[in-house]
Amino acid sequence: KKGAYPYYMLKEIDEQPGVMRTLIQEYVNEDGSVKIDQELLDALSKADRLYIVAAGTSYHAGLVGKELFEKLAHIPTEVHVASEFAYNPPLLSEKPFFIFLTQSGETADSRQVLTQVNEWGYPSLTITNVANSTLSREATYTLLLHAGPEIAVASTKAYTAQIALEAILVKAYGEAKNIKAAKDFDVAGELTKVANGMQELVDEKGDIEKIAQDMFATTRNAFYIGRGVDYALAQEAALKLKEVSYVQTEGFASGELKHGTIALIEEGTPVVAIITDPKTAAHTRSNAQEVIARGANVLFISSRDVAAEGDQIILPEVDPLLSPLVSVVPTQLLAYYVSLQRGYDVDKPRNLAKSVTVE
Ligand code: F6R
Repeated sequence: KKGAYPYYMLKEIDEQPGVMRTLIQEYVNEDGSVKIDQELLDALSKADRLYIVAAGTSYHAGLVGKELFEKLAHIPTEVHVASEFAYNPPLLSEKPFFIFLTQSGETADSRQVLTQVNEWGYPSLTITNVANSTLSREATYTLLLHAGPEIAVASTKAYTAQIALEAILVKAYGEAKNIKAAKDFDVAGELTKVANGMQELVDEKGDIEKIAQDMFATTRNAFYIGRGVDYALAQEAALKLKEVSYVQTEGFASGELKHGTIALIEEGTPVVAIITDPKTAAHTRSNAQEVIARGANVLFISSRDVAAEGDQIILPEVDPLLSPLVSVVPTQLLAYYVSLQRGYDVDKPRNLAKSVTVE
């Protein structure tokens, strides 16, 4: 079923604009209001704090979700790695609500936490791509990602679908709670802009293929840096590159690099700077200069409104909180091409399985 595509990963990257449109159709009414089960919204509305629990790429989608929930709906939100939460839970608030993000719905680490949450008797929601999966059956509520089957081991369209659905949920929650920032957020309009922006980026994949060749052909390590949502994205981008190309890659908060990790920068080390937020653009640029001075090869990926001369990849403008939905696309393509150019099976990286059903 991969048709004209050499690999599922490329097909799934290309499907992302369509996934955004499907989510709008499934969850947003003609008048811009959101269709989400009232019982779920009532339960969410009673919570004093949200706990997002997930693993890997889904955890990274949770980091963006926290920004959405806190900035647009003003509800404190924590994001936890499932395997850590399972045996070392944090102190919980009085009225917690749990959100499990999971493409497969079968991840053992997340299941372990949900079993515990059910014993405690707290309400939960699973956001998953697989109807009737274990995490979907065991949670109080379920929302489906409608991304279509994800076959490549490296997750791409599930990440963007999870963020988009979090944005839709935030909109619904904010409307239910009468929160102005959420009410003013035109989720369908913003996600349509995202879909168009993603399309521009997937149409220009030749640029990324060339950058992969020029900057990453022989490197053994690499860094992604960013601040705020760009830091959240840097962590996902680093995971994607390392898991399919075996290039050791770290996603770092730009400002934190100088507190030690900068010692790893050598002549020719690739550093990818993600810059979408006007508040921190100048700071990340100065962190990039620090690594350039130590010999790094910097690739700038920046949004049109904060772009500087010489930036190699310019991202279409979208709502700043949704910027990972577009900035992730060139990083997925970069991972794909670096893997391909090294002759690996990009759909089936070594040592990995599509769903991790052991703790
Ligand atoms: C990375 C990747 C994994 C999964 C993780 C959680 O590309 O696919 O990190 O994101 O194993 O899986 P789900 O989302 O199925 O719970």
